Amino acid sequence: MPEPMTLNNTKAMARFQEALERRGLTMPAGPIDDAPTPEEPGHPEYHRRQRAAAALSRWETATPRRYHQATTTHPQVTAWADRAIEDIETAGTLLLFGTIGTGKTHEAYGALRRIAAAGLPRYSLIATTAADMHGNLRVHNDPQHDIEHELTRYCRIPLLFLDDIDVFKQSETTEQNMFRLLNDRYNECRPMIMTSNLLVRDPDGGRDLAAVLGDRLTSRLGQIATVVPITGPDRRQEFR
Ligand SMILES: Nc1ncnc2c1ncn2[C@@H]1O[C@H](COP(=O)(O)OP(=O)(O)OP(=O)(O)O)[C@@H](O)[C@H]1O
Ligand SMILES: [Mg+2]
Repeated sequence: MPEPMTLNNTKAMARFQEALERRGLTMPAGPIDDAPTPEEPGHPEYHRRQRAAAALSRWETATPRRYHQATTTHPQVTAWADRAIEDIETAGTLLLFGTIGTGKTHEAYGALRRIAAAGLPRYSLIATTAADMHGNLRVHNDPQHDIEHELTRYCRIPLLFLDDIDVFKQSETTEQNMFRLLNDRYNECRPMIMTSNLLVRDPDGGRDLAAVLGDRLTSRLGQIATVVPITGPDRRQEFR
């Protein structure tokens, strides 16, 4: 009975090779390794790097010029960013607080850069101050300006950075918008970074974040926030 012609059958392979040579054709010796390398499309690392490059470009667009060199230097901030990279839904809120000029905004942009560089499947962010956000959510003369649409954008964006969370003129409208925004992000497990000069609750009865946000939002923050004090002198003197 003739032997079946398989790739393991060396006699059959030799005959096949001879036939090719008679026709002036050649066959490379051994199997062809056509698996992509990390430098080539098709390899997961290649695609991760492509995503990271696009995300870093988005980060740069969203980041004010002063913070273009920002990287995280605080271990707790780095750890929070790494948690967000690991599982964006369980990262919760990073709340950086400290006195003026200690580097809160710098650390926040550094954390956002670190997340961008990881090359997650989806990276989009809004980085703004609370004052600018409330300004944007005020009634405008422009009939095209749809406040509900804007609020939905802040709610749905995968990453939101609200700088100086306590610096805005409070009114019934700002209170309502803040509640709707933070409550929605809390419900949907969407991460946020916030900065403030205020303690969440001041034991000495001074103005604190609880007074700005109200007890219901403070309770939600208590559950999901990683509160990191950024201490030290006013670094603006150092980087004059
Ligand atoms: N680790 C750092 N490396 C280099 N520059 C830094 C660092 N931290 C802060 N800076 C610089 O110090 C200055 C103050 O930092 P930043 O604006 O982050 O302070 P802040 O705590 O947000 O202040 P504020 O409470 O007034 O908003 C900025 O010019 C910033 O670029
Ligand atoms: Mg700041």
